[in-house]
Amino acid sequence: MVRCDELARVSAADGGIERVYLSAEHARANRLVAQWMREAGLRPWQDAAGNLLGRLERLRAGRADPEAPAVVLGSHLDTVPDAGRYDGMLGVLMALEAVRILRAPRPDGEGYGAPLPFALEVAAFGDEEGTRFGTALLGSSAFAGSWQDGWWDLADATGTTLREAFLEFGLDPARVGEAARRPDELVGYLEAHIEQGPELDRRGEPLAVVSSIAAARRFQVVVEGEARHAGGTPYDMRHDALLGAGEAALAVERICRGEHHVIGTVGRLETFPGAVNVVPGEARFTLDLRGESGPERDRVWERITKDWDETMGRRGLRWSARAVHDASALTCAPLLRDTIREGVAAVGAARDGVLELFSPAGHDGMAVGAVTGVGMLFLRNRDGISHHPDESVTASDVALGIRALTAAVLALAADRPG
Ligand code: HGY
Ligand code: MN
Ligand code: MN
Repeated sequence: MVRCDELARVSAADGGIERVYLSAEHARANRLVAQWMREAGLRPWQDAAGNLLGRLERLRAGRADPEAPAVVLGSHLDTVPDAGRYDGMLGVLMALEAVRILRAPRPDGEGYGAPLPFALEVAAFGDEEGTRFGTALLGSSAFAGSWQDGWWDLADATGTTLREAFLEFGLDPARVGEAARRPDELVGYLEAHIEQGPELDRRGEPLAVVSSIAAARRFQVVVEGEARHAGGTPYDMRHDALLGAGEAALAVERICRGEHHVIGTVGRLETFPGAVNVVPGEARFTLDLRGESGPERDRVWERITKDWDETMGRRGLRWSARAVHDASALTCAPLLRDTIREGVAAVGAARDGVLELFSPAGHDGMAVGAVTGVGMLFLRNRDGISHHPDESVTASDVALGIRALTAAVLALAADRPG
């Protein structure tokens, strides 16, 4: 908990928490967590995409076995603007605690190892949120070998491209492929994360196992009308882009409210020229659309586009949308779901059976799933508040979560030969 507070101070914003991919704050956070990894006996390194990883070698007959595949535990260190201090960071620190509990001193006195049939790694991914470049999961995509060269020209709000950001961070864009892990190197990926929704709090449950993670698409939408004089232009002559965008945002809420596990949000809306006495000629807004499956999500997207066609036609406006992020749904691996469930049951955190929840929130597992199986453990967070400074967890839930995560790794070990 103290470390979450310490990480919260590594921020670009004086008053709040903001730490984006490949920023100076990202580098400082990597250095701080690398130090904590070293103190726990792990060997830390920064991979070719700026993710921070730490490894504890498998101990086989008392000797380190550097060829052993690894169970990777982790989450992300980047944040949204004005973030809470637990989204991502808590999962990295819980992973580090679980590894510290599981480690054993090496007989040769040279530090620690994993007395398990696999190595243990802690992953601190650098860009789960996509705050800086719009496209999310860049770090974990590199880890999974899914990097797309089309991303290099993505630019942040200052016009800095992803390629330039790599160079400024001290990374070589040509070597990003070196971050990719091979399936045979990995046993699986386990992530502990706050629920970021109200289910656990409402049910009075501290922990749950995740069944699957929502498919997500993000769009940048432009509505074009006609800037006119706010006083002299009668309403029947107006093509007001703000009002078109406003109806479009309300349509997203109306349509998604009628759906199950499909949820859409307009997070940012800007109008141009943005003067008090000018009818807005242009509006730009974002759409975040998620669903339990890609087809479910896309069926609703079709409904939304038809509604927008009608609205914009009626108002004499034109609209276009550019997809800036598209992530498939992730179904957690049955074996890892079972081991997380065993972990939760082992700590007595489930009165009548371990709760299983769908995650409408996105996570690095959506990318990591391309290279290995994914299991997720949810922790209760008060009222589900997240992506907000009031995000909070209790130390006792975190302690229970660390023990459940540790028990899950031991359950996985019990399943493996050797
Ligand atoms: O957007 C999400 O669901 C995640 O917090 N990145
Ligand atoms: Mn988040
Ligand atoms: Mn997160």
